[in-house]
Amino acid sequence: MKKKVSVIGAGNVGASLAQLIVHSGIADLVLFDIVEGVPQGKALDLSEACPLWGSSVKVTGTNDYKDTAYSDVIVITAGFPRKPGMSRDDLLAANAKVVGDVAKNTCSLSKDAVYIVVTNPMDVMAQVTLQVTAFDPNKIIGMGGILDSARFRTFVAWELGIAPEDVEALVMGGHGDQMVPMPRFTTAKGISITHLIEKEKIDSLINRTKNGGAEIVGLLKTGSAFYAPAASTFEMVKSVILNEKRMLPCSAYLNGHYGLKGYYAGVPVILGEGGVEKIVELPLTEDERKDFVKSFDAVKGLVEKLNAGGEK
Ligand code: NAI
Ligand code: 2OP
Repeated sequence: MKKKVSVIGAGNVGASLAQLIVHSGIADLVLFDIVEGVPQGKALDLSEACPLWGSSVKVTGTNDYKDTAYSDVIVITAGFPRKPGMSRDDLLAANAKVVGDVAKNTCSLSKDAVYIVVTNPMDVMAQVTLQVTAFDPNKIIGMGGILDSARFRTFVAWELGIAPEDVEALVMGGHGDQMVPMPRFTTAKGISITHLIEKEKIDSLINRTKNGGAEIVGLLKTGSAFYAPAASTFEMVKSVILNEKRMLPCSAYLNGHYGLKGYYAGVPVILGEGGVEKIVELPLTEDERKDFVKSFDAVKGLVEKLNAGGEK
């Protein structure tokens, strides 16, 4: 039997991700949205692309949570994207309500699922999903670090004039303004960029990476990025569905890792069919650690604000 992925939210990120999943043929797909007709229409359109892509997966579009039952992976993209001038954190209360509803409606139908949370502010929404489902924290993972690292990789590749795939990058911490791009662990074919690019230039690439989401919001004006976010989420879905054990920067629940506990933050993890199979702990310099803790504290502050408001 084919594995099953349910994508909740059939908007820009959800539909782009659905396309990648159906095209790859790795799993049957359920596309859920509260808006009637939209998931059904997009699912039918994707089904009609299957003969062209040589894909034989089953695609279902629905407004009924029952269709998501027995999913192996549930991806949450439902909620509101930001508009120009808004930070990811401005979406806190509205999206917490959406994500809380989604988690409540899906968890009893798919007790063994791995959740991948995309909705912003993502690290906090992963915590909301954890609180509502009471699943093993390793089965609830946030997507942010792969996207931020992909942006950093792109800007480094442009600077060096080399193929983007030859650049590896690491961005840690929360997927917010305090994210922590790590030049020491960013390489071109294994060579740290600290040997290849001067410090001032690296600093400007870091700033562009931190501002990467807002740069696209500023251009689109009516929503946020979705092609690179969908491609980033697809890497996670594939690693779980195919048990690939990829090492990827994802938002994981820290339980003493890096000396921190009780909240989500972006760290390198090994991702397999069980979700987060290992959190990789890197030796950080004092400055790197200070920035990482600051970013972790920002996520913690938002979770506390949310819980104090009783909004979930
Ligand atoms: P979008 O507006 O295109 O799609 C959101 C979809 O969610 C809409 O189709 C809407 O009808 C649906 N929705 C709203 N409430 C719902 C509910 N209660 N149940 C089911 N569906 C519901 O937005 P887009 O661009 O797809 O972004 C989605 C979310 O992902 C946003 O919060 C955005 O900030 C976030 N995001 C996060 C990224 C990350 O790196 N973690 C990257 C890109 C986007
Ligand atoms: C991004 O970084 C909006 O979080 C989203 O593009």
